Amino acid sequence: MDKFIIDGGRRLYGSVRMQSAKNSVLPLFAASVLTEKRVIIRETPPISDALCMAQILRELGAEVSFRGNDVVIDSANACCHEISSSLTKELRSSVFMLGSLLTRFHKALIAYPGGCDIGLRPIDLHLNALKRLGVEIRERDGCIYCRADVLKGADISLDFPSVGATENIMLAAVKAKGRTLLSGAAKEPEIVDLQNFLNGMGAKISGAGTDEIEIEGVENLNGITYKPVKDRIEAGTFLIACAICGGEVEVVGVKAEFIGILLHKLRENGCKIHVKNDKIVIESNGRLKCNRRIETMPFPGFPTDLQAQMTALNAVSSGGALVVENLFETRFKYVPELNKMGADIEVKGRSAFVRGVERLRGASLTAGDLRGGAALVLAALGAEGTSEVLDLSHIDRGYYDLQGKLKSLGADIKRVRV
Ligand code: EPZ
Repeated sequence: MDKFIIDGGRRLYGSVRMQSAKNSVLPLFAASVLTEKRVIIRETPPISDALCMAQILRELGAEVSFRGNDVVIDSANACCHEISSSLTKELRSSVFMLGSLLTRFHKALIAYPGGCDIGLRPIDLHLNALKRLGVEIRERDGCIYCRADVLKGADISLDFPSVGATENIMLAAVKAKGRTLLSGAAKEPEIVDLQNFLNGMGAKISGAGTDEIEIEGVENLNGITYKPVKDRIEAGTFLIACAICGGEVEVVGVKAEFIGILLHKLRENGCKIHVKNDKIVIESNGRLKCNRRIETMPFPGFPTDLQAQMTALNAVSSGGALVVENLFETRFKYVPELNKMGADIEVKGRSAFVRGVERLRGASLTAGDLRGGAALVLAALGAEGTSEVLDLSHIDRGYYDLQGKLKSLGADIKRVRV
């Protein structure tokens, strides 16, 4: 097991290029089994969630190889429709393998998916939508058995704009008989990326990015070489790191409108933000004002995946802030770790009441989930003295070479074997 050792207090300067979006790459891996032809996904970081998805595809009989920055997937020989519980427990994204497996094999068997410990994470929206497409579903012994001799297009309405359910429906309807009209769809940029990927394979999908997506079932899907959208959450993480530490940092590859509300909040904190094409530059003097209120919402609202990082920033800003987490029930588990550093944050249910302090003190910290772990790293970068961050397996799920990128900006961070 590794840990980070961080000497806080360094200002950050320089430019850093974002990786392909984790939350785009994962559904694209699932979509690659829809065709027997070769699929190449460009510039894919070997983050552990991608390695886990690759293993899931290999279990189905596909050949998956990481070649430089690209992943080459050949699923002509894929023949299995079952995914082992050990793999599905590790990864929430395994759930949208249901849509792909049903389209490819007309049956699927997966164990209830796992993922970060940030809430209950039910899959009722996924399963109800699949039933609308003609899927028979039985749940027994923690497994989900699905079967659909014929997938039929249908009108589907989601009670909540679930990202995963929207993606599962697109993957299950893409070759169904007839038209599927999905209303109440999630509008994240990664949904648009999945639409572009599938249409590049020969699908007929329109409306992604709005709350109404139309999917005209097609007979056949070809292979594709595709470059996914860059990671807006990684970009937000680096922008917040600079806001906390002070300095001037440019993040490259992400459109400003994908994190528009974050940029608005960072300006509210007192940071200067300049945007030019896919370059976003932030300047911070390191001593900022709290945001009065941060409330996570589905896209284009404030992203839940940046909630922890923004709480870490408000913890060392002047004044107070109320942070409300509307998407996941237990996404404040990192707060006790920040309070160990001298932060003054009180959590009540889905709200965190932050009273900003001058500066945090270095401490020994343990990451409990992906984005909470990233928030601890950011807090340590701005803290006085030395911190260590343990259990990096959570951070490795979504950030590739985080320490290398931070070091290139002037941070004093080392990754050492424990
Ligand atoms: C995706 O998770 C992302 N993961 C998450 O990123 C992200 O936080 C989330 O969307 C919200 O933006 C991937 O894309 C791999 P949801 P997903 O279905 O699809 C409820 C990260 O850190 N819900 O939009 O699981 C659910 O409980 C990860 O990169 C149901 O009630 O999110 C939650 O409250 C964490 N029933 C809300 O919807 C369902 O059937 C949002 O979930 C499905 C979801």
